[in-house]
Amino acid sequence: MNFDLIDKEFKKYVSTFNFEDEKISLKYYHTLEVANISYEIAEALGLNEEDRNLAKLIGYLHDFGRFEQVATTNSFKDKEVDHADNGVKLLFEEGWIRTFIQDDKYDEIIKKAVRNHNKYQILDPVNERERLFANIIRDSDKIDIFRVRTKYYHNEMKLVPSIKVVEELKKEHSILLNDIKNKSDSLLCVMAFIFDFNYKESIQILKKKGYYSNFLNSIEVSKDNETIFKEIKEKLLKKLEV
Ligand SMILES: [Fe+2]
Repeated sequence: MNFDLIDKEFKKYVSTFNFEDEKISLKYYHTLEVANISYEIAEALGLNEEDRNLAKLIGYLHDFGRFEQVATTNSFKDKEVDHADNGVKLLFEEGWIRTFIQDDKYDEIIKKAVRNHNKYQILDPVNERERLFANIIRDSDKIDIFRVRTKYYHNEMKLVPSIKVVEELKKEHSILLNDIKNKSDSLLCVMAFIFDFNYKESIQILKKKGYYSNFLNSIEVSKDNETIFKEIKEKLLKKLEV
């Protein structure tokens, strides 16, 4: 794998979109971060150099469908266009994958990792190796999402979150999109990503980077929610102790 070429081609692809749009530039830098974090996780898991590089390549490609989604819908919402399915379409139906890697021996692994990276859980039938790479991208993406949420978003819990969402969070469950009823619920949904990590090595990397505690500290809480947030925050920060 030639990462000079991969990096150059990826940049060339993104430059066909409006880089002045923060949604585009944010996802460009997010992609570079996720590629590096994927490599770090693969390394921490003791994978060989070839597999570390494969994890990194998947990092480069995981959000390939984002740029077109933003250009056509002006949003990150996956209801109209699921950006992961769109990425698979562009890479494997329209053939973009061959711009990044000539060899097709990793195609199934890459396809399943990209398609399942944003789903509530892995939906495709996967073998052990496919699961490994899907798990790595799901973890590395979430690590960088905490950085992105802290840097680019105003995180406020000013509405009272739904009882169901709070209960699920207390049970250490991820939040289903259908249960999200207001802005506070969606913030709690991001907080709950911490329950969905596959590897303790990923959590250790997250902890080292400080992204999760920074994210929790960036949340502006209204008086109504102070007690509940304090309780939830303590519980969530405990998850970093692995
Ligand atoms: Fe994504």
